[in-house]
Amino acid sequence: MYRTHTCNELSAKDVNQKVTLAGWVNKVRSFGNLVFIDLRDRYGLTQVVCDKDKAEGLKREYVVQFSGTVKKRQEGQDNKSLATGEIEVEASSINVLSESAVIPIDLDNIDNVSEDNRLKYRYLDLRRKQMQDNLITRYKITKVARDYFEKNNFLEIETPILGKSTPEGARDYLVPSRVNKGKFYALPQSPQLFKQILMVSGFDRYLQIVKCFRDEDLRADRQPEFTQIDLEMSFVEEKDVISVMNGFIKTLFKEVKGLDVGEIPTMTYKDAMEKYGSDKPDIRFGLEFIDFTAELSSSEFKVFSGAANGGIKGIFVPSEFSGKQVKKYEEVAKLYKAKGLIALSVGDELEGGILKFLSPSEISLIKSKVSGKGTLFIVADPARSIANEALGRVRLEIARNLELFDKSKFGFVWITEFPLFEWSEEEGRFMSVHHPFTMPHPEDLDKLYAGDLGSVRSLAYDIAINGNEAGGGSIRIHDKKLQAKIFELLGISEEDAASKFGFLLEAFKYGVPPHGGLAFGLDRLAAMMTGNDSIKEVMAFPKNKAAYSPLDEAPNVVDDKQLAELGIKVRD
Ligand code: AMO
Repeated sequence: MYRTHTCNELSAKDVNQKVTLAGWVNKVRSFGNLVFIDLRDRYGLTQVVCDKDKAEGLKREYVVQFSGTVKKRQEGQDNKSLATGEIEVEASSINVLSESAVIPIDLDNIDNVSEDNRLKYRYLDLRRKQMQDNLITRYKITKVARDYFEKNNFLEIETPILGKSTPEGARDYLVPSRVNKGKFYALPQSPQLFKQILMVSGFDRYLQIVKCFRDEDLRADRQPEFTQIDLEMSFVEEKDVISVMNGFIKTLFKEVKGLDVGEIPTMTYKDAMEKYGSDKPDIRFGLEFIDFTAELSSSEFKVFSGAANGGIKGIFVPSEFSGKQVKKYEEVAKLYKAKGLIALSVGDELEGGILKFLSPSEISLIKSKVSGKGTLFIVADPARSIANEALGRVRLEIARNLELFDKSKFGFVWITEFPLFEWSEEEGRFMSVHHPFTMPHPEDLDKLYAGDLGSVRSLAYDIAINGNEAGGGSIRIHDKKLQAKIFELLGISEEDAASKFGFLLEAFKYGVPPHGGLAFGLDRLAAMMTGNDSIKEVMAFPKNKAAYSPLDEAPNVVDDKQLAELGIKVRD
């Protein structure tokens, strides 16, 4: 037997027991003729003490087995922060199972290690307690998900990883076929079509914790391969889906974090944009937008009159800002296409450079909408969406800098009634916001048939947590005629639809239940629940910003022979 106990198990009640421990040397300290060794495994640390000559040559990260007797530590030597802090193991034998070279990254100062080195030596990085705790929390999330959804009659069913390329927003990762030369599989961006087909088969509640692949620009919350907790349900309306998912979120936060999540509010997309300038608002703090458009758009001041058909939106922050700070926030606003950011100081009177352009009644109108001492920031823009989004970004930046929210709190909100279509400048046509199988809002069908595509809402919903999109889904179209109409409006011809999603449309000929679903981003949930900004911290082996893995050096070139077998020639 390599060990009788883990490194987190022994306590005062085990004193005088003979034990064997195995693990990594975390630290070696000499004290006169004695050597103290912190032995580490994923459960914790145990102090081992032995004579100097026995521990000769023992170094950090050696894998060692100690046999000995559990002893109470000397008076005053207890370590209250360790579960094993009252005892130590007096070693009678030491067996080095494996030596370690000097490790190339400093595990005690990980912030000073470059990301590529952390990823290259990931197996060492993953020895840190922080990383082990992150992965343990990630595992717990999947365990709670499987248990909760099983209790609610969901079945976990696997869907293919080698599928057909179907347009779904991001670029596909392609896999060439050797048997069918010149043909390609695509790795799934999500199991969307297959889970809908499972509804046609009658598996009315589907779950899959599944890898998804998207070739898109990477950010802190995006990886080329990531994991979804993917769900689909038959015979449901939006409120049924949301209610089952609320049950999951509540169970999850209770079991993993011991937190009681109260009622999760629902906000329409329009309200979210108008109040917070974001479709994933962080509602842990206020700073809701004040709308000045109606009151100020007839102003002589060109910036306001120019925004008459757009938006004049403000936020009141009960703090003062230096000119330099205001400039920094203006940069943020400009990054999101605003032309500028107006800052007015609010006290007994308003103060600010632009007031000379406003009439006394306009000034008192502004004053009437704010109270207290502080600063009013305004963005005015001929495009309302720009005014909202730019101010939304400024709102977040201010909240972050002023620490307006409690980092240990969570702010959940469902966003509903997303637009069905959005105009793509690049494509010069309307595109689906979600995917072409999303059900239009029943109240907007008239607008849909009248061709007023920009104002059609959908039955698509997202759940935002702390300003991040943690999950998204929709009720799907199960009516052939309506589906055909959507394809027509999207400019997808019948042949195109048949060649791209023919198998789904074919399946839909044979009795399809009304259905809908959602997918949570597991990596994002795990990052939020462990207090990390980047999802890489909760993935064992992530890729770097260039979608490259310094550990196994993927992607990489392949042999000419492999390429020849696939009938592929790499172009310059
Ligand atoms: P969607 O594209 O919104 O929906 O994805 C669902 C959730 O997955 C997470 N996510 C990502 N996480 C890490 N890296 C990425 N590149 C990445 N892309 C998305 C987000 C997101 O909310 N088939 C639909 C779901 C449905 O309609 O049922 C879908 O994939 O947290």
